[in-house]
Amino acid sequence: TLAQRAIRERKSLLIMDAQMDSRVSTSIKIIGARSVMCAPLICPQKTLGILQIESKSKDYEFSKADLDLFTGIASQVALLIYSAELFDDLKRANERIASENKNLKKQQKVQSSFGNIIGTSPKIKEVLELVKKVSNAPYSVLITGKSGSGKELIAKAIHYNSSRSGQPFVVLNCAAIPHDLLESELFGYEKGAFTGAGETKQGLFEVANKGTIFLDEIGDMHPHTQAKLLRILQEKELQRVGGTKVIKIDVRVLAATNKDLKNAMSSGEFREDLFYRLNVVPVHLPPLCERKEDIPLLITHFLELSCADIGKHVKGFAQEAVTLLLNYSWPGNVRELRNVVERIVTLAPEDSMLGVDMLPPEISNKS
Ligand SMILES: Nc1ncnc2c1ncn2[C@@H]1O[C@H](COP(=O)(O)OP(=O)(O)OP(=O)(O)O)[C@@H](O)[C@H]1O
Ligand SMILES: [Mg+2]
Repeated sequence: TLAQRAIRERKSLLIMDAQMDSRVSTSIKIIGARSVMCAPLICPQKTLGILQIESKSKDYEFSKADLDLFTGIASQVALLIYSAELFDDLKRANERIASENKNLKKQQKVQSSFGNIIGTSPKIKEVLELVKKVSNAPYSVLITGKSGSGKELIAKAIHYNSSRSGQPFVVLNCAAIPHDLLESELFGYEKGAFTGAGETKQGLFEVANKGTIFLDEIGDMHPHTQAKLLRILQEKELQRVGGTKVIKIDVRVLAATNKDLKNAMSSGEFREDLFYRLNVVPVHLPPLCERKEDIPLLITHFLELSCADIGKHVKGFAQEAVTLLLNYSWPGNVRELRNVVERIVTLAPEDSMLGVDMLPPEISNKS
């Protein structure tokens, strides 16, 4: 038929003498059509269908000019239908992303609750009590402690137990970014602010707005960036690098360091005024060797986690192995313990008892 032809050839058709034309279907002849125009509805990836009109008038036959107009109308209609479909797809994709995001946030919140911070030693209990009290307060918290002692875990727990928990939690490791890039990372930049700034970009403070920013390794921040950070914390507003627009920000700041900031202050590497601004509530995480009572609980916790992760079952550690693990000094703190347990579980035969032979040499030899 006419319609099939228009779709196949992706071309409009004009029939002048409809009653005599073999391409015209009987149903159209029966209604007494004299001339017919048929235009395909063409979209980028497919043809949606056709638009067709017939004229029964003896005095007026569709012309080539009519066909051009009609083809134009059909392409507009196709565009409208196409954008409506796109819009619909977009809406559905958006809904899916929103619900995935909600689930992820819920999961994140569960994983960042105080229940996941393991330990019953007096030292960790003291930390947890303090942290619970300050979670919902607006204060800045400075978390200090050796590498791997759980600083980020504490920062997350503070955020997810505060009234800001539904808002972003943004982490920035100040030591991981060269100092000349750190400012634009934190405060954003305007298009053309420097070579390479092809587009305007939001800084992490803007991304974290209404939520919490966690500035990890703050002790490694360059004094120039420290000065800028201090000003922004005081004024609660910022300007992007190369920009003039003043952007209000409402961000809670949590910071962490494994450096001794008091030393850094006396040598002039860390600004005192910034220190007092960040250190409203100091939280110190003692190294694992000062809370050895927690080691058995942590071992069990990480054993369960890694077994579940890789889908393996083990009987647990033999008594002599536990003794060695307890006596080890754990310079890498909880992270080191977690890594050791994960490695052992990965290498262990299914259903085995984990003996001294499974321990890494630094733990089985030196203690
Ligand atoms: N009390 C704890 N209970 C359970 N898991 C813990 C505890 N403390 C630390 N961990 C785990 O140990 C690992 C290291 O913790 P985290 O990253 O918070 O340490 P960190 O102090 O930020 O280390 P770094 O200074 O190296 O950045 C993480 O996997 C964390 O989940
Ligand atoms: Mg950390």
